[in-house]
Amino acid sequence: MLAFLVLMLLDRAADGACPPDTNLQTVELPEVVVRHADLLQINCTALFHKQLGRHCVFTEEHTSLLVARNLTRVDWDTQAHCSLKLNESLQYKNLTITVYKTPDSMSISLLNHSGPMVEGTEYHLQCDILNVAPVQNLIVKWYKGNESLLNVTYSNSTKTPVDVFPTLIVTPSSDDDGAQYRCEAELDLGPEGPQPPPTVSSKYQIYVVQPQNQPTPFPTTPGSKDIVQPTAKPKGHNDLLELNPPIVVVEYGDPVSVNCSTSSTDHEGMGWEATQGGTDFQLNATIVTWIVDNLEDWTIKPMCYITTSTNQVTKMLPVILYKTPDNMSISLLDHSGPMVEGTEYHLQCDILNVAPVQNLIVKWYKGNESLLNVTYSNSTKTPVDVFPTLIVTPSSDDDGAQYRCEAELDLGPEGPQPPPTVSSEPLIITVHYKPDIKCPLQYIGVEKNFTLDKYCVVMGNPPPDTEWNWEGKHVNASKPLNRKESGRYTISAFNHQGSTNATVEIIVEYAPEWTCPSKIEIKENESLLECKANGQPEPEVRWYKDQTSLDPPRTWTRQNRGEYTLVSSNKHGEASHTVHIDVLYAPEIHLTTPGIVRAGSDVSLGCSAQGNPLPEVKWNYTVADNVNLTNDGHQRTVRITRATSTNAGIYICTATNRVGRDTRETTVTISTIDYSTILMVASLIVFLVILILLVYYCRRRKRRGDYHFHPINSNIQMAPLPPDSK
Ligand SMILES: *[C@@H]1O[C@H](CO)[C@@H](O)[C@H](O)[C@H]1NC(C)=O
Ligand SMILES: *[C@@H]1O[C@H](CO)[C@@H](O)[C@H](O)[C@H]1NC(C)=O
Ligand SMILES: *[C@@H]1O[C@H](CO)[C@@H](O)[C@H](O)[C@H]1NC(C)=O
Ligand SMILES: *[C@@H]1O[C@H](CO)[C@@H](O)[C@H](O)[C@H]1NC(C)=O
Ligand SMILES: *[C@@H]1O[C@H](CO)[C@@H](O)[C@H](O)[C@H]1NC(C)=O
Ligand SMILES: *[C@@H]1O[C@H](CO)[C@@H](O)[C@H](O)[C@H]1NC(C)=O
Ligand SMILES: *[C@@H]1O[C@H](CO)[C@@H](O)[C@H](O)[C@H]1NC(C)=O
Ligand SMILES: *[C@@H]1O[C@H](CO)[C@@H](O)[C@H](O)[C@H]1NC(C)=O
Ligand SMILES: *[C@@H]1O[C@H](CO)[C@@H](O)[C@H](O)[C@H]1NC(C)=O
Ligand SMILES: *[C@@H]1O[C@H](CO)[C@@H](O)[C@H](O)[C@H]1NC(C)=O
Ligand SMILES: *[C@@H]1O[C@H](CO)[C@@H](O)[C@H](O)[C@H]1NC(C)=O
Ligand SMILES: *[C@@H]1O[C@H](CO)[C@@H](O)[C@H](O)[C@H]1NC(C)=O
Repeated sequence: MLAFLVLMLLDRAADGACPPDTNLQTVELPEVVVRHADLLQINCTALFHKQLGRHCVFTEEHTSLLVARNLTRVDWDTQAHCSLKLNESLQYKNLTITVYKTPDSMSISLLNHSGPMVEGTEYHLQCDILNVAPVQNLIVKWYKGNESLLNVTYSNSTKTPVDVFPTLIVTPSSDDDGAQYRCEAELDLGPEGPQPPPTVSSKYQIYVVQPQNQPTPFPTTPGSKDIVQPTAKPKGHNDLLELNPPIVVVEYGDPVSVNCSTSSTDHEGMGWEATQGGTDFQLNATIVTWIVDNLEDWTIKPMCYITTSTNQVTKMLPVILYKTPDNMSISLLDHSGPMVEGTEYHLQCDILNVAPVQNLIVKWYKGNESLLNVTYSNSTKTPVDVFPTLIVTPSSDDDGAQYRCEAELDLGPEGPQPPPTVSSEPLIITVHYKPDIKCPLQYIGVEKNFTLDKYCVVMGNPPPDTEWNWEGKHVNASKPLNRKESGRYTISAFNHQGSTNATVEIIVEYAPEWTCPSKIEIKENESLLECKANGQPEPEVRWYKDQTSLDPPRTWTRQNRGEYTLVSSNKHGEASHTVHIDVLYAPEIHLTTPGIVRAGSDVSLGCSAQGNPLPEVKWNYTVADNVNLTNDGHQRTVRITRATSTNAGIYICTATNRVGRDTRETTVTISTIDYSTILMVASLIVFLVILILLVYYCRRRKRRGDYHFHPINSNIQMAPLPPDSK
């Protein structure tokens, strides 16, 4: 038969970060000792770490385990295991289970013998223990009264129930008359087993007579000692007389009759000696009957006798006269009103007029739990009053408990079955105790769907008042919690016995939600801070642009601008949000510069700027009538019509937007000379230079005296003189 596991989830928090080995997991399964056919519920606990925000959380998977094919009851061959599947790894643990059963019945019998025992003879007492398991955990303890005589154990490892019949050899002495033998079957199931170990016991009272060695003179007087044939074997010495029944157990005032018969043929007569119901000596009789209509003599010792020609043989009839108590009541000594937890009290049971006290067992119970058994060794046969007490130190669990005492007269196998029992009315106690709070260490709930008053159990008597506090403030425990109310809560419970506090870490979970505008402007190379997905547990966020999943840029550039769809999800839901992200950047100017400008010409100075938002472009220049500013798309142009020297100077273009500004400047130089004038001047200068050179040459020739003159309007020719003319 294989059992199944059902898993529930519960979280427990530990402070701080998880160890690096985050998947560390263990499966914990206790060893189990269980009574056969009981319901079995075991927790299989799986522990592993999980990082949850700032906390390292031990997630426990509690398994309630119901065993057997029927999923109800444990059988001898029940097996179970707990398995934990995490990711792909499987952890597996078998249940160590011990199934036990206390004996169905127990009884002691005397082997090969009936009636009273004879002093000095060996007898075998057998204890019949039926249907017990597992036998290897069984200890059979033999006792005489309270004296431990023998312990028997078994090594057979059978798991199913067996019958065992341990025996005890006894050789009684005369002191043992009336002694009680007891065998006790204890199942020692170890520390996981029930405490104290389950124990069943059975009792047997023996009666011992002395073997008679000396014949007594004939006839005898009533009340003489038992007389037995000297030659008779111990076991058969009193075969001459047989009592039927051999022992009587009679309730006080009840009728009784016992036959005494003989197999002898050569006797003279027989009779009964007794304070009540004695008979005359009856000649030739082979059977005489002791009859009493109302047996009322507590100390009666009836004796049957037979007289033969040579001697007299007697046989005592063991009589147990009993009486159940007149009255039984239970009371609390020296106290009235509710008890206080942890204080010692004495309960007294008043048992009046019971006999015989040595067969009395007073059993104290709390509910159905047996607490204490009291026995008495006083051998008084007449009724007595007894006042056994029980010391109790109640705990909170005992509030409302019912205490009861029971007087049982255990009169052996010859006595009435079941043994006569009288029980007191139960005493119901009230225990005052300081509050006790049972709370999980951590509780995770869904927003607006749970309140604080749900899951802490507060006990206390008188019923305590409770109060919840959070961050030093009193909170209404029946109000559903919202997402902002996660934290460490304290519950305090008070009554006049004291107060108790407990703290619970409350985590309020909720589906993700975006706090993010639909349009965002961000400066280039900065990171995006405004968009947050709130949720508990921390949601997972995915980004999409044009239906394509992507990782959001760490720092934003102008190429990243556009419309994004953000989807965040946790176990409570999903939220999507569309945002247009604009990336802003400072202006960057492009300037067209004219270089040197000829006076009188037209000039254009163009300034354009890139930037987001679109920058405002401005020119700073010396204003003049012939200078106009024009807008040409994004370009702002300074137009100078017929430039003059007044238009020379520095022209500054400034582009400004919210993010920044850029400035460029250019110098306009106006040249007033035009190239034809320069050329004319240059050729004039060359002509003048040639003229001067020519004049100089002529002068030098005249001074040497060799001159030729020509008419004025002829061409003047310069030619070198012949070298010899000097
Ligand atoms: C199982 O664990 C829960 C929570 O710790 C506890 O209340 C319950 O008593 C346990 N059950 C058993 C059978 O141990
Ligand atoms: C469950 O057990 C009960 C007795 O305990 C039995 O009568 C019943 O037939 C069982 N059911 C199944 C499905 O085994
Ligand atoms: C658990 O029990 C099964 C069969 O009952 C056995 O095959 C397996 O070896 C056991 N595992 C361990 C770890 O004892
Ligand atoms: C039997 O065992 C009990 C403990 O369980 C011990 O006190 C007692 O002395 C033992 N008796 C004998 C005869 O060994
Ligand atoms: C254990 O007891 C059972 C039943 O009494 C018997 O059949 C089996 O042989 C015994 N086994 C051992 C190892 O003694
Ligand atoms: C008793 O028995 C004897 C012999 O066995 C006989 O002589 C005698 O008469 C009998 N007595 C009575 C009263 O029957
Ligand atoms: C008292 O005796 C009964 C059997 O008569 C037994 O079941 C019970 O366990 C005993 N209680 C104690 C406390 O020894
Ligand atoms: C037995 O009890 C009676 C009455 O309670 C008392 O007188 C007597 O001394 C007691 N005997 C023993 C041996 O305890
Ligand atoms: C609120 O809790 C109840 C039970 O605890 C559950 O059935 C229900 O689904 C929850 N509602 C929401 C919205 O989580
Ligand atoms: C319990 O909490 C209350 C209120 O928070 C505080 O006054 C009290 O001292 C605490 N008691 C204990 C035992 O911690
Ligand atoms: C223009 O530029 C001159 C010199 O650079 C400066 O002094 C003046 O303040 C500027 N004017 C404006 C309107 O920016
Ligand atoms: C400058 O522009 C204005 C209007 O746009 C125009 O009336 C004026 O004639 C222009 N001046 C020059 C010198 O072009």
